[in-house]
Amino acid sequence: MKIGAPKEIEPGESRVAMTPDSAVQLQKLGYDCAIESGAGDAAGFTDAAYEAAGVEVCKTAAALWDGSDIIAKVRPPTEKEVGHLSEGKLLISFFYPGSNEALMNLARDKGANVIAMDMVPRISRAQKMDALSSMANIAGYRAVIEAGNNFGRFFTGQVTAAGKVPPAKVLVVGAGVAGLAAIGTATSLGAITYAFDVRPEVAEQIESMGAEFVFLEFSDDELPDGAETGGYAAPSSPEFQAKQLEKFREIAPDMDIVITTALIPNRPAPVLWTKDMVEMMKPGSVIVDLAAERGGNCELTQKDQRIVSDNGVVIIGYTDFPSRMAAQSSTLYATNIRHMMTDLTPEKDGQVNHDMEDDVIRGATITHAGEITFPPPPPKVAAIAAQKPKEKPKDLTPEEKRAQELAAFKAQTKQQVLLLGVGAALVLGVGLIAPATFMQHFIVFVLSVFIGFQVIWNVSHSLHTPLMAVTNAISSIIILGALMQVGSSSILITILAAAGIFMAAVNIFGGFLVTRRMLAMFQKS
Ligand code: NAI
Repeated sequence: MKIGAPKEIEPGESRVAMTPDSAVQLQKLGYDCAIESGAGDAAGFTDAAYEAAGVEVCKTAAALWDGSDIIAKVRPPTEKEVGHLSEGKLLISFFYPGSNEALMNLARDKGANVIAMDMVPRISRAQKMDALSSMANIAGYRAVIEAGNNFGRFFTGQVTAAGKVPPAKVLVVGAGVAGLAAIGTATSLGAITYAFDVRPEVAEQIESMGAEFVFLEFSDDELPDGAETGGYAAPSSPEFQAKQLEKFREIAPDMDIVITTALIPNRPAPVLWTKDMVEMMKPGSVIVDLAAERGGNCELTQKDQRIVSDNGVVIIGYTDFPSRMAAQSSTLYATNIRHMMTDLTPEKDGQVNHDMEDDVIRGATITHAGEITFPPPPPKVAAIAAQKPKEKPKDLTPEEKRAQELAAFKAQTKQQVLLLGVGAALVLGVGLIAPATFMQHFIVFVLSVFIGFQVIWNVSHSLHTPLMAVTNAISSIIILGALMQVGSSSILITILAAAGIFMAAVNIFGGFLVTRRMLAMFQKS
């Protein structure tokens, strides 16, 4: 069978569904590949590169559509494009069947099978085909770059001879794929990043990307359950929404950049950044609304436009962020398509086996064998296990706080007394059998262990690096001391000295190895 990728006809669309690399992989599955002449130009893939990869270059769109059994494209097809489909042909593209019913019916009437890349279920096994995520990842990254392009200051704070520059404060609303990518990019540029999402299970992901989770007081009953909705958010209650907006109003004057990505599948985007919030922001602040395509999360967003509000806030509503990085997005999208084809070709014989028992293929198929198969049954596997949010520590009264501190102090003292008791008993025991010269060394040794333990155990995490340096210095002293003792006439002292040399060496060389690994993480390859 032949897989063909036409040139995208949507104005401004630069992506292409097949790259020379993906074509090589498709050929390994037994397929012939074809491309419409110039389809990859805007993404940096020339006809010559395709030809070198063994791809047939078709002069016209009609030749490609009519000569291919499987059509891979990016944007949903137009009516004219669906007109090229015929019985048994397979179309794989973004389709958004919820809002393209007429096109879907037309494809069914033509007898064509359609796989909508936007319908791939978000389960672990399907991640390699999850084109929405690949594109959202790029959109999140590009949103921050676009914000930086419109923001008149640094992201990172700096202290220079010419003055102090505060770091930019970035708020990301919605921590799905796009939101998390935006958080990662903003944080790595040095901004102080905050993020909010209605799904409590993403709090940990937000924090692991280096942002602070904007905490909202709410009861468990008001939590939308992400796991029941295939990992997507469910609409929140009016009370929850009111609390959310109240929180945003409180932090709006402080934010320099707001990136909104909040979306509930098959619904218009919720309005979360209202006109009065924009008015509260400082002039020069930037809002990038990734949900512009579905109406926007910001009340003032205009689709595909960059506007400046009366108080000087830039609001960006572009809907083509992945297309603005066409080489990258085409590469990822073509890989997603290639993985879909791999699952459709279990025998690697260049023949499609459209297995409707397969969860992923079934979920993404919207027309099959003359039937509409959309919407699919709900996913059997939960995308993300539901977790309850971390409990906020209860506010204690001063009396409760004092009682808690006293109890902690008592427990610590008890532990220390016990430790001292054991130590004293040990020294006494050894003292009864060992010679006096050994005892001198032994008492110094026991005291060192005790003091060392107390020092290290109570050091806060932030001081671990300087502590490591100090312990390395101490280890060198131990090695010197142990070297002086290792030739002793007492076999016991020789053994202890040898053990001392070994342990101190482990500390020193281990320290070097850990430091080397840490430095390697910061080295550019
Ligand atoms: P997603 O579904 O993974 O994430 C949306 C997130 O918004 C979810 O984590 C959800 O819990 C959260 N959310 C929903 N309602 C919320 C509320 N009221 N408050 C706070 N958070 C809320 O979607 P994904 O893939 O990350 O995409 C995000 C947005 O970016 C979508 O609107 C998508 O259409 C858009 N997008 C835009 C592009 C562009 O070029 N402008 C390109 C790709 C994606």
